[in-house]
Amino acid sequence: CGIVGYIGKKEAYPVILEGLKRLEYRGYDSAGIVLYDGENLKLSKTKGKVLDLENKFAEETSTNGSVGIGHTRWATHGIPNDVNSHPHYSNSGDLVIVHNGIIENYASIKQELLKRGYTFTSDTDTEVLINLIEDVKKNEKVKLGKAVQIALNQVVGAYAIAVFDKNKPNEIVVAKLGSPLAIGVGDGEFFIASDATPFLEYTKKAIYLEDEEMAIVRLKKGIKIRKIKDDSLVDPYIQELQLNLEQIVKGGYDHFMLKEIHEQPVAIKDTYRGRLLVKEGIIRMAGIDDNLERILNANRIIVIACGTSWHAGLVSEYIFEDLARIPVEVEYASEFRYRNPVITEKDVVIAISQSGETADTLAAIKLAKSKGAFVFGVCNVVGSSIARETHAGAYTHAGPEIGVASTKAFTTQITVLTLIALKLAKEKGTISKSEFQHHLQELELIPDKVEKALLQDEHIKKVAETYKDAKNCLYLGRGYNFPVALEGALKLKEISYIHAEGYPAAEMKHGPIALIDEQMPVFVIATKKGHYEKVVSNIEEIKSRSGKIIGIVTEGDVDVKNLADHVIEVPETIESLTPLLTTIPLQLLSYHIAVMLDKNVDQPRNLAKSVTVE
Ligand code: G6P
Repeated sequence: CGIVGYIGKKEAYPVILEGLKRLEYRGYDSAGIVLYDGENLKLSKTKGKVLDLENKFAEETSTNGSVGIGHTRWATHGIPNDVNSHPHYSNSGDLVIVHNGIIENYASIKQELLKRGYTFTSDTDTEVLINLIEDVKKNEKVKLGKAVQIALNQVVGAYAIAVFDKNKPNEIVVAKLGSPLAIGVGDGEFFIASDATPFLEYTKKAIYLEDEEMAIVRLKKGIKIRKIKDDSLVDPYIQELQLNLEQIVKGGYDHFMLKEIHEQPVAIKDTYRGRLLVKEGIIRMAGIDDNLERILNANRIIVIACGTSWHAGLVSEYIFEDLARIPVEVEYASEFRYRNPVITEKDVVIAISQSGETADTLAAIKLAKSKGAFVFGVCNVVGSSIARETHAGAYTHAGPEIGVASTKAFTTQITVLTLIALKLAKEKGTISKSEFQHHLQELELIPDKVEKALLQDEHIKKVAETYKDAKNCLYLGRGYNFPVALEGALKLKEISYIHAEGYPAAEMKHGPIALIDEQMPVFVIATKKGHYEKVVSNIEEIKSRSGKIIGIVTEGDVDVKNLADHVIEVPETIESLTPLLTTIPLQLLSYHIAVMLDKNVDQPRNLAKSVTVE
């Protein structure tokens, strides 16, 4: 979910509404806003997107005011409907809250409150929390800030909240545990948001709350931050934001996803800039250099991640083992954290996350740290929770990724992981000097080759047209390109809702081959480098069962072209770097199919970009 708040001199409504639109990547199944007009609270909320809220608000009220809070939701407790949307009132109607996260013990608190006569209109954990705050406030006769603090100390779970009391219209109380919360500090005005994008055009000064901190944001007296547990005061640390507004608008593209696909040449360059020094024959990465001993002495590397980041982790398994000869395990963070894993101080954990906020990944990091492992983060969002929680790390520098389906985050993650593997291989002496140098040169050529792969767009569109009505698709690859097959299938599923499966090409004969008939498109990654002949044999197996074959091949390929129904060419590179190229046509293919099927590309149903619940 995303939350936005404003207190100042401006009209709060447009600030909050536009802010919510920027946070829709965090969830978009319902939205709501509450404003204080100087006397009363005016609340408008609805199932649907922020646009639906905008229409409803226009019908219901034209109220304005210079303080308010808003929410865009990704449902956890209670189906997405008008009633379950945020903000939620307390029973008295004086207090109102927006919440991102989950209150795990809400059921027992609700029972208590029911006994005391409280009533509930929604199925949400959030309505329980605001009534708990109200109950504390009444019984203990304390001010809002104190009541929030006492209530949060009774709560188990995760939250970023903003609470407003119409009897204290000069302040908003916010708190954070597990979910992100930023406060924008303007001139006589304050902004509250799940990330800094809603207030970028108003101020570049931001405070990021740490876990278990709360802040009382007062119009005149400014911000007071306290630790929720022990009530100690915290000095606000105001950061200067580096982000620009241009980075978060579509810039002429129809969708963020398309823009981000096309940004990959630049994003990859930004990722290796200052790190890949081809002439000098070195890779410079402070996070690795500063911890070299520890990392080189690792018994093994455990990679933890979710979703697309997990796929990048799988690619890294090949390169770490291949070049640096370090054993690697790649784990879903959500499985790792709950399976009592064997972790020792000799392990190095690499946590990969675009957002740096994924709840399962964060929890897995904490677990690994508690067992003494060294944890290295690969994140895109600077200053994110995972970036802060890890011992060291390397940012991907891909720029903001807004489309829910991850594209440039994936290729830049692979770029960073490749740099790390090469660096470790060099330090360990598992790669020859000339081979190392060859890798550096090839990596430097990748942005231009991605650019070239993107030129296939029109051709890919035609392929998309041919297969857009498929009900199922299969994606196959071997070696370095097996994870790319998984990622290709995930992209199609996410945005077009066509069922797709990724498989290691050779495993096909142990199951998926039973599905193949003339209705089944099979996308096969068959680049020249990397088990080419074996993949060609797999293609023969598909052909003899009348499957439709779309080959992702190296420029100038002949063999696959003769067998396949369609081929899409990518430039040639060394095997370990092929994923950076073969991914591109699969991204474009999914994109075009989703557009042709009239799906919401940037905000596919049921998904969210940043999953801060487990
Ligand atoms: C969500 C997003 C995916 C992403 C995954 C992991 O499911 O929709 O695109 O790969 O979370 O997110 P992270 O930010 O940790 O990479």
